[in-house]
Amino acid sequence: MTVSPSKTEILGITAATVTLVTALLALKYPDRGAFHEHREGLLDMEGAPVLGNLPSMIKNMDRFYDYLTEHYEKMNTLTFRTTFFMMPSLICTADPRNVEHILKNNFEGYIKGSEFDYTMHDLLGEGIFNSDVDIPSNCRVFVDEINLASREIFDKAATSGEIIDFHDIMLRFSMDSFAELGFGVKLNSLLERADFADSFDALQLHSFKKSIIPGIEAYETAKHYLFYWSKEKSIKQHLDTVNAFAKKLIKERHEEEQAAKLSSIKFEKGDLLSRFMKAASRNGQTLDDNELRDTILNFIIAGRDTTAQALSWTFYQLMLFPEIQEKVYTEAEQFITEEVEADPSKLYTVIQNMVYSHAVLFEVLRLYPSVPGNQKEAVKDDVWPDGTRVYKGEQISWQPYCQGHLTKVWGSDAKEFKPERWLSETVGSLVRVSPFQWSAFNAGPRVCLGQNLAILEALVAITLIIKRYKFHQATGHKVEILNLVTLSMKDGLKITVEKRKS
Ligand code: HEM
Repeated sequence: MTVSPSKTEILGITAATVTLVTALLALKYPDRGAFHEHREGLLDMEGAPVLGNLPSMIKNMDRFYDYLTEHYEKMNTLTFRTTFFMMPSLICTADPRNVEHILKNNFEGYIKGSEFDYTMHDLLGEGIFNSDVDIPSNCRVFVDEINLASREIFDKAATSGEIIDFHDIMLRFSMDSFAELGFGVKLNSLLERADFADSFDALQLHSFKKSIIPGIEAYETAKHYLFYWSKEKSIKQHLDTVNAFAKKLIKERHEEEQAAKLSSIKFEKGDLLSRFMKAASRNGQTLDDNELRDTILNFIIAGRDTTAQALSWTFYQLMLFPEIQEKVYTEAEQFITEEVEADPSKLYTVIQNMVYSHAVLFEVLRLYPSVPGNQKEAVKDDVWPDGTRVYKGEQISWQPYCQGHLTKVWGSDAKEFKPERWLSETVGSLVRVSPFQWSAFNAGPRVCLGQNLAILEALVAITLIIKRYKFHQATGHKVEILNLVTLSMKDGLKITVEKRKS
């Protein structure tokens, strides 16, 4: 006669087996993710038994890049590996030689792989950049938008003494400037919040969380259906808002073109949208509406937040260091006369010679690079210049933020805000630094296409604003990093405004 075990016995046996297996795994993997074997010549970041680095990464998500920087320092290395239970490992590097290898010398050896697709696909779609499309730059748009912000926001705040959020204003400034320059649309979000921008922010935060928290996609989908009638928009609803915005832009442009054709008028709009509509995609065809949607969103994500964040971190530093602020002010007073301000082409030329202001911006992007970290997948086995072996399919990452903060890369004063480090001994020129050491704009074949435009936009904004106002950080307001795909500010940058001259 056979006696079948009771439910309690089955549960007991299962629990004992799980405990035993976990204990054995913990013995074999006491400081890293299970099934990740140590590799010769590659340091592993110390983690929890079996789970590896996942728990501490989630715990440190809010200060993710400082946390990585601390580990580079603690391990006294510029390259290490992080391991996770049931997930691929990630090899991190801040070594400029490796960055040059990944971004340029062995560019073909790495792709924005499946991990990147998973985290970014909803927002960025197929991501077709056509590097042949040149980006129009025009100071006039930036001057007009700063004048509008001065009239409608800064002047009023100076009179009333109210606290305003400079970070939010810069996001609206760069959104409006970009919409006009890129797509010929007057968004006027400086005057009134745009739904589109809110949804764009929510999707970027979601993309970042997806790269760290497993299962968040399923959670968001469930939330969408369970709380469909809730006032708070779900991720899917945010995506619908963003898509609707891009589709409307495209539809209206098609209609304008069609109307011009019917009236036999030559349709000429030199903005990015028209250039994209004429440009060919990777398969040689003109872009269809979905590809155009992806391209528009790619450009907005590339251009809007990055520039707004660079500006916000700049003014934050200028408030922290009044003596540096005064030097920028003195240079602005010297170079930007009323005549220059009124003439966009003169302003363009004059700004190129404002060495100290450039140095301040470059120093901000060293310590607060708008894209703090980046990830790729190896398409074949490789060996990095520092000797690290990378195998096909592995995820690798480099972080401009960590590079900027590490003494091994920038010397003992790496963490100090020192624009002077950019000033060459030859009066009136800037020190040239390798783009693999200062990788804020990426480098190699995928260098930022908007680099010159972004620098111009930022310097127009910095110099015009600094000539007119002094900002003061609101009492009690703490500035903290918010890690999105780009380096944002958690609670913004709350300031009060003082007018310099009436
Ligand atoms: C301070 C401002 C900016 C910073 C720090 C910055 C930084 C970067 C970085 C790091 C990348 C590489 C991203 C990657 O491959 O994952 C990039 C790519 C790109 N950026 Fe910028 N960017 C800025 C402003 C702009 C602006 C204003 C525009 C557009 C007008 C722009 C257009 C692009 C484009 C099109 C790419 C993709 C290039 C390619 O993949 O071939 N960026 N940028």
